[in-house]
Amino acid sequence: MKIVVSAPGKIMIMGEHAVVHGRPCMVTAVNRRIEVALKITHDNLLTLNASDVGVVNYQKEISNLGKGEIEQKVKFVELALKNFKNKFPFTTGLKISTKADFCRYGFGSSGAVTACVIKGLAELFKININKRDIFDLVYQTILGVQQRGSGFDAAASIYGGTLYFVTGGKVIEQLNTDKLPLVVGYTGVKADTVQLIGLVWKKLAKNPEKVNKIFDKMGELVEKGKKAILEKDYLTLGDLMNQNEKLLEEFGVGTEKLTALIKAALGAGAWGAKLSGAGGGDCIIALVPENKREAVSKAITDVRGEVVEVETGEEGMRVEY
Ligand code: PMV
Repeated sequence: MKIVVSAPGKIMIMGEHAVVHGRPCMVTAVNRRIEVALKITHDNLLTLNASDVGVVNYQKEISNLGKGEIEQKVKFVELALKNFKNKFPFTTGLKISTKADFCRYGFGSSGAVTACVIKGLAELFKININKRDIFDLVYQTILGVQQRGSGFDAAASIYGGTLYFVTGGKVIEQLNTDKLPLVVGYTGVKADTVQLIGLVWKKLAKNPEKVNKIFDKMGELVEKGKKAILEKDYLTLGDLMNQNEKLLEEFGVGTEKLTALIKAALGAGAWGAKLSGAGGGDCIIALVPENKREAVSKAITDVRGEVVEVETGEEGMRVEY
């Protein structure tokens, strides 16, 4: 029996970093999906292929999952299997392959692949498990791999749509919105999320009062942003995104390239523009009136950014066949 599960990537709208520290954020799922195929085998091995990230025929005994030195590229899948197996024991072998077209943009392929693996295992072994249980297993896996993180990417991959989210899934609220008029610009630079989370963590340890104040302000911006999104008040939302960007810059997670793309988008008529995610590279998002979409896209390209066509509010994980 073979199961194929897919899940969308995500874009952080507002509240990054502060959400790792107990504040809310807003995230939307995008129409770039990862696909994971899973099959039970009659050996006692995990066989993993993830050609998009250069993993070819990685093998490990099922009884040794999670043990020994594990290559970074296979960690999410291997630890997801281990965590699932601890909760729902199995001994059969598994053949797993993954296919994604968005790894390089930082749209959350790790959270998406982990969600697909957990959902796929539940389907293969006919275990009734709801989205919340899947989220908890995926979040446990993310923390197992990178120690820190909010789980917002996992929530977007599992639930889809546009979400108001609080750390660790304390709140996962679906927002009833239209597709957001976003233009996404990729810097061409791969961000190291774990390192950047660590950087902000250090700043917090060094100056808790100041940094907590920034987190609080960011939380307030997200609350206002939620209202603006629900009211489709994009002028206000754009302004809040700009304020969010200023706060992120105080953490030192901006870069020249991110700033160049943001400036270009604003100069061409975007309502608001900011980095999206950890910073250090990856993408910016610009909220843009329809009649300025082309000009904003051109301005981003002119400063050597790559415009990535995406639609927001994409459906969450699903079984394909
Ligand atoms: O770099 P990304 O797109 O994975 O976003 C990271 C967002 C953080 O808030 C910095 C981390 C997190 O887990 O919420």
